[in-house]
Amino acid sequence: MNVLILGSGGREYSIGLALSKDDNVEKIYFAPGNGATDTLGENLDIADFSKLADFVEKNSVDLTIVGPEGPLVEGVVDVFEARGLTIFGPSAKAAQLEGSKIFMKNFLARHNVPTAAYIETDSLQDAYKFIKTLEVPIVVKADGLCGGKGVIIAQSHDEAKKSAEQMLLGNSFGDAGTSIVIEEFLDGYELSVFAICDGKDYVVLPAAQDHKKLLNGDEGLNTGGMGAYAPTPLVNDEIYRKLNERVIEPTLKGMKEEGMPFTGVLFIGVMVVNDEPIILEYNVRFGDPECEVLMPLLKSPASELFYKAATGELRNAKIEFHDKYAVGVVMASKGYPYKSSPMAEIIVDDIYHEELNVNAHISYAGVTRADAGTDDGKLYASGGRVLVCVGVGDSIAQAQKRAYMLVGQVHFVGKQCRTDIAYQVL
Ligand code: AMP
Ligand code: GLY
Repeated sequence: MNVLILGSGGREYSIGLALSKDDNVEKIYFAPGNGATDTLGENLDIADFSKLADFVEKNSVDLTIVGPEGPLVEGVVDVFEARGLTIFGPSAKAAQLEGSKIFMKNFLARHNVPTAAYIETDSLQDAYKFIKTLEVPIVVKADGLCGGKGVIIAQSHDEAKKSAEQMLLGNSFGDAGTSIVIEEFLDGYELSVFAICDGKDYVVLPAAQDHKKLLNGDEGLNTGGMGAYAPTPLVNDEIYRKLNERVIEPTLKGMKEEGMPFTGVLFIGVMVVNDEPIILEYNVRFGDPECEVLMPLLKSPASELFYKAATGELRNAKIEFHDKYAVGVVMASKGYPYKSSPMAEIIVDDIYHEELNVNAHISYAGVTRADAGTDDGKLYASGGRVLVCVGVGDSIAQAQKRAYMLVGQVHFVGKQCRTDIAYQVL
């Protein structure tokens, strides 16, 4: 089959890489893709949803997979489905689970899915009142999409009040902050759990852990994620059972009952507190860099997973995973996440180690390819998270060693990475 992937990050590269190894897949398109996805398929310079649907019809694309939340919230799935095209992702309505924290929190409350105690409000007076009742730290969240920056963990009541004021009055997040959620702080360990859903049935992928902080030991600024590993041994069968029964099943049932059956990736941000999984948030797409460590663990053909989910046939799929571990280390540009950085040429040493050639690879993200005619088609780091070095192994330690061996082979001016990915379990 022919597949179109929407997006341009390492997440989309890793989905493309998995599909490129799948005998059922002939041609892969990316829109827009990045400077390296052109090695896996063809990049398209089309953004308009109707024009993408035109392309899909003309070029016999059998399946479209949506990577990022933006196009989902904007309704790309609705446009494609209205034209009878097969697309993997939730409708705009269902994407509110990520697009609006208030929708998500109220949905969880309606369906008794465990989550932190909270209020949603657009009134400062109500915010002050609720803040008074909480112990510090206190969590203040802007309602809408803020590129992962709309969450403040306030260390004092005063700071919580100020954050609420800034969001509601100071427009610190524009329209995304005209309503806010204030909630209790959950003290536990965080997991990224992904359920691939077809509206009725689901497949849970091996649980992962992200590393959101810029620096070793979880210090420094929040980022989109500096590394991930999976599966994490911090999840046992009991926690998976609780997640299925108390979280995923009521959510899919509730979404169906409310007239917006959920198809796509349900990304469950979980805090495990005293062995109880409590929901921090939902996203409606794969995490990045979590996707980069999950795709290599998929043993079944990637096309089967995504196509069956998009067509409501998961019940008839037997999805299997390798009995292995994957660790992904993000290499970011110099200014990340503060500011953009100058372009820097990426050089990857020739790899003679068979161990690395077989068990490690790069998922490219913030990269640009120079014009083949003028500059030999060299690859440049063009900012943000540039690439992810992924190692696979029979243990987390082995996967981590391979990921860092590969990191040592990759060079660009200003590169930065954490040196402790997966430290929680080693
Ligand atoms: P979000 O944008 O909702 O994913 O929040 C970003 C990060 O803030 C999460 O990944 C958590 O690490 C942290 N966080 C959010 N809500 C809470 C909470 N109620 N208690 C503790 N940490 C939280
Ligand atoms: N890595 C977390 C996210 O993609 O939101």
